[in-house]
Amino acid sequence: MEYADAISKIQAILFKKDATNPLQQVVDLLQSSFPNYSWVGLYLVQGDLLVLGPWRGKEATEHTRIPLGKGICGSAAQSGRTEIVDDVSKDTRYLSCFLSTRSEIVVPIKRGARVIGEIDIDADEPAAFSGKDAAFLEKVADMLSKHI
Ligand code: SME
Repeated sequence: MEYADAISKIQAILFKKDATNPLQQVVDLLQSSFPNYSWVGLYLVQGDLLVLGPWRGKEATEHTRIPLGKGICGSAAQSGRTEIVDDVSKDTRYLSCFLSTRSEIVVPIKRGARVIGEIDIDADEPAAFSGKDAAFLEKVADMLSKHI
């Protein structure tokens, strides 16, 4: 799917009144629309933890609560910056969830300067994520921030 089409669809989900579980719907849309997005999850900041919210992928992750600063997820939450890891096996911060994962992108969801959550996506291909994915997902994160 084109990024612009996905943005329109996400807008439609989020701005529909009384939608059932819009965050889950957005996760489902992302995971099913982009072949490289093998596993898509939202983590929400609660105190000094990231707590897993809606997700979609082949398997559940054991990492349902990640301390800020730990893993790629915790690093992105702490810095407020998007992380793209082309080869997870070479990143010492990486917390392994799925044996098939080769690359990962984590995009913070912010309210003002404060990180309130993040989008975490694992791919089974190495270097699956580009600056275009980052720009697209940062737009999605902005849209989600008003609905968390
Ligand atoms: N790999 C992440 C942990 C979350 S799982 O990918 C779902 C990390 O290093 O923080």
